[in-house]
Amino acid sequence: MNGPVACGNCHTLAGPDGPDYSRELAGGLVFDAEPFKAYAANITPDNETGIGAWSDAELGKAIREGLRPDGTLIGPPMPVPFYRALSDEDLAAIVAYIRSVKPVTNEIPVSTYNIPLPPAYGPPIDSLSAPSPSDQLAYGEYLVTISHCMECHTPLKEDGHPDFDRLGAGGNEFPGPWGVSVSRNITPDTETGLGEWSDEEIKTAIAKGISRDGSHLLPPMGFGYYANITEPDLDAMVAYLRSIPAQKSEH
Ligand code: HEC
Ligand code: HEC
Repeated sequence: MNGPVACGNCHTLAGPDGPDYSRELAGGLVFDAEPFKAYAANITPDNETGIGAWSDAELGKAIREGLRPDGTLIGPPMPVPFYRALSDEDLAAIVAYIRSVKPVTNEIPVSTYNIPLPPAYGPPIDSLSAPSPSDQLAYGEYLVTISHCMECHTPLKEDGHPDFDRLGAGGNEFPGPWGVSVSRNITPDTETGLGEWSDEEIKTAIAKGISRDGSHLLPPMGFGYYANITEPDLDAMVAYLRSIPAQKSEH
């Protein structure tokens, strides 16, 4: 929960010293990205302003399918298209964790989307299991998917949707209190990607936020959360990243 899926990267406000855990998951991050203005919701178990009144099944459906109990769609940038891959087991663990955080009363404004949102992100999901860790590539792909790395690291097409033909090529801009950070190329390209990096260097960037040249990475790269990913899981993620097609980029 505080590892790969990094809900708190959006749902917990962070100050200069990192996430404010006294108000963990109480919402508040604002995404003012034309054409929409989205507010990350309060997902603490508060009955009035959070998700306290939702059943486990309703909460699970919200996370994996992006549908609230009243049937409305949870809009971007909530990474539902990636969370659709979550196994039943991992989804249940996330739901249990959310139930365990302190309820915080915090009314969050309603998001406005000046674009038509689809009625759903896809067909309903009954049940899903994760690939076995013994199949390192498939398991690594699963982990990279639920960590929604590619949401930030895949360039957007003109219509605002990710260009999956350029998976991992980077180049998206993220303005914030830190200035503007630009997601980097995480494909195996030897000049503009991670092709020449050692496994250790890639793992240090993901989990510690330190790039190969020793520089510190800026938000919203989620290294603070990825620090909790286990070594074998990081190894599987690196193996998968090395298997995707290399892309040239300017970064
Ligand atoms: C990239 C940012 C981002 C991440 C990461 C993220 N969310 Fe969200 N989430 C949002 C935004 C923005 C909304 C509000 C969307 C809207 O208003 O339609 C939202 C809405 C929700 C809602 C609906 C709450 C309500 O009252 O309507 C739930 C539940 C939720 N998120 C759970 C999660 C969980 C659990 C995770 C981690 C597994 C997660 N989110 C990760 C951005 C994010
Ligand atoms: C919310 C957006 C976001 C998510 C999610 C995200 N990243 Fe990043 N990532 C960035 C940004 C932005 C940078 C560049 C930061 C900077 O300029 O300092 C970056 C930098 C990196 C770098 C450093 C590359 C270099 O050349 O220094 C690596 C490696 C990386 N990300 C891998 C990953 C992996 C693997 C995941 C999933 C586990 C991931 N990222 C998830 C936004 C994101």
